[in-house]
Amino acid sequence: MTPFLKFSLKHRTNGASHGGADEQSVISIRGITKDYLMGEETLHVLRGVSLDIQRGEFVSIMGPSGSGKSTLMNILGALDQPTSGEYFLDGKDISRLSSRALAQIRNRKIGFVFQNFNLLKRTTALRQVELPLIYANASDRRSKAKAALTSVGLDQRLNHLPSELSGGQQQRVAIARALVTNPAIILADEPTGNLDSRSGTEVMQIFQRLNEQDGITTIFVTHDPWIARHTKRVVMIRDGQIVADQAVARPLVAGVDQRPSEAQELQSMLQDAYGGKPEEYT
Ligand SMILES: Nc1ncnc2c1ncn2[C@@H]1O[C@H](COP(=O)(O)OP(=O)(O)OP(=O)(O)O)[C@@H](O)[C@H]1O
Ligand SMILES: [Mg+2]
Repeated sequence: MTPFLKFSLKHRTNGASHGGADEQSVISIRGITKDYLMGEETLHVLRGVSLDIQRGEFVSIMGPSGSGKSTLMNILGALDQPTSGEYFLDGKDISRLSSRALAQIRNRKIGFVFQNFNLLKRTTALRQVELPLIYANASDRRSKAKAALTSVGLDQRLNHLPSELSGGQQQRVAIARALVTNPAIILADEPTGNLDSRSGTEVMQIFQRLNEQDGITTIFVTHDPWIARHTKRVVMIRDGQIVADQAVARPLVAGVDQRPSEAQELQSMLQDAYGGKPEEYT
């Protein structure tokens, strides 16, 4: 048996391959391409990506460096527009909207979390979380920001600057900032990439809770199969195309399932790849 690394996966039948947009999906993209013109040369970074994500899903996106994960996330998050293809968000085609209209949609529906936290250096935790509410012209900003920080366990750190917080705490401020506007979707680009494993586990616990209890549709990029196993579906990208899309039958529970040692992981990997008994790899 190889209990640690092996995903319990089953193939998904992705509606995306059947043509038109899926009206049940919160996110439905069809044939998305993204090209960059670099001097004389055109870089084809996304080469026809189609994907449906249902409300309440928890999806991780994996793939080698440079495969187009962040490019895709920026398009899903309405931060960037595709070169061609269609994007239906809540059934509405947003692929041709102006950048101003996209900004409005972003503010109302989508929360972002980044690998490097993207916090303002000279701004307290409370103020960082209040900012999106100011842009949205919301009422009760202070109490909403406090509630969001409390929900990520930072009620004792309201007046701390980023430099006075640990990496894990900074990422939790960033999650509170993403949450405070009650988005339907959270997009996170390698949110645990800069964290030690304990802080990474804390952040995963928060994402799992947001997904389970609040039903927030969550999509995030990770390089770490252990982290991906905490989500309910894994989409693999290579060279700007989706090459695999699998459901995780039994997602791990952050903080409950213990990560195996490096030696155990290596043993599982070798055994998965080449078969044989555990004793052969000790
Ligand atoms: N603004 C840009 N102009 C030109 N090329 C770009 C631009 N943004 C990304 N690229 C190129 O697109 C490709 C995909 O980049 P992307 O950032 O999406 O990769 P990634 O899968 O997120 O990689 P990583 O795992 O390293 O974060 C890379 O080859 C990159 O050089
Ligand atoms: Mg990236």
